[in-house]
Amino acid sequence: MSSYKRRATPGDTEWFVHDRFGMFIHFGLYAAPARHEWIQCREQIQPEEYKKYFDHFNPDLFDAKEWARKAKAAGMKYAVLTSKHHEGFCLFDSQYTDYKITNTQFGRDLIKEYVEAFRAEGLKVGFYYSLIDWHHPEFTIDHIHPMRNLPDAEAISAKRDMKKYAEYMRNQVTELLTNYGRIDILWFDFSYKKAPGSTDWMQGKGKDDWESEKLIEIARRLQPGIIIDNRADIDQDIWTPEQLQVEEWPKHKESGELVTWEACQTFSGSWGYHRDEQTWKSPEQLIAMLIKTVALGGNLLMNVGPTARGCFDKRADRALDAFGEWMKYNARSIYGCTMAEPEFITPNGCRLTQSEDGKRLYIHLLEYPYQTLYMPCLAERIEYAQFLHDASEVKYDPSNGFVCSKMQNTFLLPTKKPDILVPVIEVFLK
Ligand code: GLC
Repeated sequence: MSSYKRRATPGDTEWFVHDRFGMFIHFGLYAAPARHEWIQCREQIQPEEYKKYFDHFNPDLFDAKEWARKAKAAGMKYAVLTSKHHEGFCLFDSQYTDYKITNTQFGRDLIKEYVEAFRAEGLKVGFYYSLIDWHHPEFTIDHIHPMRNLPDAEAISAKRDMKKYAEYMRNQVTELLTNYGRIDILWFDFSYKKAPGSTDWMQGKGKDDWESEKLIEIARRLQPGIIIDNRADIDQDIWTPEQLQVEEWPKHKESGELVTWEACQTFSGSWGYHRDEQTWKSPEQLIAMLIKTVALGGNLLMNVGPTARGCFDKRADRALDAFGEWMKYNARSIYGCTMAEPEFITPNGCRLTQSEDGKRLYIHLLEYPYQTLYMPCLAERIEYAQFLHDASEVKYDPSNGFVCSKMQNTFLLPTKKPDILVPVIEVFLK
């Protein structure tokens, strides 16, 4: 058994740390302007003007089953979809707002179709729910609000009542966790401090504004076992480093315990569909992100931003295919795996994972070495080794001294890298 003890979580994270790999989906009106999901804030678009995206919203190619099939084919085991992002638009049929998908030309409850299709593929299902809401009339204006520079912003904001907005959130979270069957993850987003230099009346927002304790209490009552992130400003189940490759397993600030964590990453920088973004990561980078995350005991939530037609664009499809192709042969080094025990020293250019039961070690050759891989820590522990993708034997020679003594305790590798993005050596341990 792995010797790493995680800090206890209120929700059920056992399945989560086994499954390791999920799909994040950011979908909303911002798919139409197609230049970042924060466009309403960045370009300070006022509600009357933003309304054109609502009026024209019609993701006619949306097919929840296709989304679910693609997630599964990529090797993902769960998904988290934006039920509402910062723009305030709801992808579900909420009785507390008119600003919802059932009131667009599209007319269907997309959340309902998503839940059913992903469940049918055997995937676990989560909802992202934005704490920020730039559409709600009671949400006070702060330094990231699209109305921040209106001449009468302060006067407008003074009339707003966050208590009413907090109640709205409780009502919507109740709907989300009551009307769609079992929900495995609730992903709140996010809390922030007052920006330095911003006008005095523009405050940041945190747990007191969201009334997070009540929100969490509702979620736990309606869906016992649900996994909740930390972004409502109260420690819950998961820590969520964003667009960042952490260097070590994150620890709890006060107690120093290892936490349950999930990195969220994008294919190209933005979360919502961004037509002109040219910063798409290569397949090698994507696979390396997954490996490096699990090698530090974490999960990867990999984001897709569907187009306003409701489907994945070709670049996203290709990225998912890269995961699918690699996972088809190498999933065993990801599912049910975690950080390797400290006795195993990571060779240069590699990352290690180890099965939870401790019986197998996986050596990911991120940089393919020349013929040999020196791993003296295995001398007493190795029983047998093979490449994971084709189960072909990889010889380990504890006494191979053909050049100098340093060459002992090495794997003997083919000179040419096998035709797989990142080859993995599977070691059966004694
Ligand atoms: C940030 C962004 C948001 C995105 C999220 C994903 O908080 O505000 O656009 O949804 O990160 O982690």
